[in-house]
Amino acid sequence: MKARGVMAACVTVVLLGMGVSGLARLYGTQEQPAPKDTEADAVKLISGYRQWTKANDEPKYVVPRVAPGSSGPLPVPQKTADPHEGKFLTVYVNETGREQFMAKKIPRFTEGTVIVGEKLPSRETNAAPELLTVMVKRAAGFDPQNKDWEYLVFDGPGKKVAARGKQNESCAECHEVQQPLDNVFRRCLNLEVLNQMR
Ligand code: HEC
Repeated sequence: MKARGVMAACVTVVLLGMGVSGLARLYGTQEQPAPKDTEADAVKLISGYRQWTKANDEPKYVVPRVAPGSSGPLPVPQKTADPHEGKFLTVYVNETGREQFMAKKIPRFTEGTVIVGEKLPSRETNAAPELLTVMVKRAAGFDPQNKDWEYLVFDGPGKKVAARGKQNESCAECHEVQQPLDNVFRRCLNLEVLNQMR
């Protein structure tokens, strides 16, 4: 009888301990671990993305001075840019993020939103992407300073993760300038779409 009581007490202590660390995680009081999902899980997140909402009908030309793996301008003097670096970008957003991306002036993306940017070598709509830059909205507390976005880079076919986690700190740093708009640029959208936003 007595032994049982001790055991119950131990179990309670363990459970309480788990509860506290869980709460700490929830409120971001401790550093966030990288997501535990595997490469296969990440690949699944973007599988079939070409069936999602396409934000821009025509691949958008992005001025040379692009960040590696992205469409963004680099903080380098224009004269150092190679004009051949100019690439094309097509953006896709999944159903979870569609309304916020396409229709809201001040978007607030919810967990599960996935945005895929295809970096294309030419204006050809069905050209094979060179790589994919991806933003995934994770659960609250994942990375509160960066609005809980995870940044990933995939190979062109979207079958391999080329970079995630710490290697992608620069993505978050640059996207931070868009803080009032949940760290998303949406420069790919055309005027017609922008004008209809509420
Ligand atoms: C130097 C600034 C900069 C860096 C670094 C950067 N981006 Fe971007 N990113 C941009 C800009 C600007 C756009 C909008 C481009 C456009 O539509 O013309 C953009 C667009 C995107 C989009 C489409 C959604 C949106 O915000 O419009 C995704 C997805 C994306 N970037 C992911 C990444 C990932 C992943 C990385 C890191 C590997 C990264 N970016 C690094 C500036 C940057």
